Amino acid sequence: MCGIVGYIGHRRALPLLLNGLKRLEYRGYDSAGIAIPHEGKLHIVKRAGTVAQLEALLSLTDFPATIGIGHTRWATHGEPIDRNAHPHVDSSGRIAIVHNGIIENYATLKAKLQQDGYTFHSDTDTEVLAVFIGALYEQYGNLELAVRTALSEVQGTFGLVVLSADHPDLLIAARRGSPIVIGIGENEYIVASDATAIVEYTRSVFYLTDDEMAILTRSGCRTKTIDDVPTSAQLLELEFDLERIEKGGFPHFMLKEIYEQPQTFRDAHRGRLLVQEGNVKLGGLRSVEKQLRQARRLILTGCGTSWHAALVGEYWIEELARIPVEVEYASELRYRNPVLYPDDIVIAISQSGETADTLAAVREAKLRGATVLGIVNVVGSSIARETHAGVYIHAGPEIGVASTKAFTSQLAVLMLLALYLGRMRHLSATQAQEIAAEMLRIPEKIRSILERSELIRDIACQYAHAQHFLYLGRGVNFPVALEGALKMKEISYIHAEGYPAAEMKHGPIALIDENMPVVVIVPRDELYEKVLSNVEEIRARRGKVIAIATEGDTEIEALANHVIPIPETLPLLTPILTVIPLQLLAYHAAVERGCNVDMPRNLAKSVTVE
Ligand code: G6P
Repeated sequence: MCGIVGYIGHRRALPLLLNGLKRLEYRGYDSAGIAIPHEGKLHIVKRAGTVAQLEALLSLTDFPATIGIGHTRWATHGEPIDRNAHPHVDSSGRIAIVHNGIIENYATLKAKLQQDGYTFHSDTDTEVLAVFIGALYEQYGNLELAVRTALSEVQGTFGLVVLSADHPDLLIAARRGSPIVIGIGENEYIVASDATAIVEYTRSVFYLTDDEMAILTRSGCRTKTIDDVPTSAQLLELEFDLERIEKGGFPHFMLKEIYEQPQTFRDAHRGRLLVQEGNVKLGGLRSVEKQLRQARRLILTGCGTSWHAALVGEYWIEELARIPVEVEYASELRYRNPVLYPDDIVIAISQSGETADTLAAVREAKLRGATVLGIVNVVGSSIARETHAGVYIHAGPEIGVASTKAFTSQLAVLMLLALYLGRMRHLSATQAQEIAAEMLRIPEKIRSILERSELIRDIACQYAHAQHFLYLGRGVNFPVALEGALKMKEISYIHAEGYPAAEMKHGPIALIDENMPVVVIVPRDELYEKVLSNVEEIRARRGKVIAIATEGDTEIEALANHVIPIPETLPLLTPILTVIPLQLLAYHAAVERGCNVDMPRNLAKSVTVE
């Protein structure tokens, strides 16, 4: 949510900032802007729209400065218009900040500053912070002290970078709740809201922790808390390559990521599945093995697609390990005064590891004494650091706003966890071996579904102008129906709902007529006949049935308007396959409707505000 980039070093800052903003644009694309010192003044160039539009505005400009800051915005306070774009400046115009997060007490601060005669030119909370820092700088004549004092009075969240025309050899970055990562090159530093803006310059990074700030000059870096206590940064090496964050010939990141799934699914279980032994090795959980053995209940939590993965996990863990599992939206868990016992295990699932609600749920569960684990993609992210233990999904950077490969990798890890917990209890080695062996075959099966992309595109084009879609599934495939509907809504803006197939008769059936496409997930499993009856009910009302069915199923072919076949697999594992055609269906429908697949309106990849 919002992309931040800052640079101090020996290269020209402008091209580097624009490049960084393009890499970060998936985090927000309502407006973009930069601040650069030139001839003793700060130059702020910003506008509503994309980074490419900002770049066009800057095409005739050539600032030689080797320091600067930039921002790409997902609007929270104030509409996405030019004057609300970041960077924001103080009243002198000599201090600029870029900010991610929300200043909750901005109204009080603004009123006080207005009383003191300060005026404001935007609707944002960030401008209030900029003016506040500027006012304190007038008082103290010391930028670092001004920033520290301002931040200690601020309530809310921030990841920010401050630049001043008076200090062309200084950048100050700080964090509370919104990630800030700092890349270390040779006499240069790149500050960003995530590592994608850094990896092409250096792999050596460190993350700020909450209430920590970094004071960066060309000759060195100091870190301290905002209460002025020195801290020491923990250096990390970034694990991904530049090509992981480029489109590699695909028209969209989302399509590239859909096609990466045979590989990313394998990466998620590589070295962890012990097929011969019918067991699983999860090094990240060793420290909590005792707690897992004794656990009487699991609570899985997350948001969006990660919450859907949790729902699949619930079926799997209950089935294989026979432990009661509850799944709860993180945004609900955090405010619900939940009953948590010390022998409960809370598992937070998050691609980014930064989702504000999920992070807050992690903190709440820790406060209440539960063991809290993370299933996270981004290494070093807040949730990864704040949980007691966890398992990385190793999907590599996910840039497409609509999550795809992270979902199937989350499923891979959840199945590993179900097997692990199952083997600690009653699951036999033979049963585990059968599932583990089939997990190894899944990547090839995903690939064979991807080969059907043209068939799926034809179907998507036929219904791309429908106003509504209904998605139905049962058992382990009910969460997939939810995920399919979410994908359709997110990127094509077609209203879509997911339902357990048997619930259709309790309401959604009223919507069905000849204009309603209904996607029915109907693999050959123990509920097959039941779902087939639902298909009959849809046909009787002239709804259009798009069936996701097992290859060679002639019965469904006779009933459905369209069939997208998936290879046969164990019934429990079908969600990993049935979701693939639904991702492609949404993708092709969105392209046919002319939607911007990688930058769907109003959405952001990583939601770091409540
Ligand atoms: C946003 C994204 C979704 C994602 C959700 C949870 O809404 O647009 O794609 O599923 O956040 O994100 P997380 O990073 O915690 O998995």
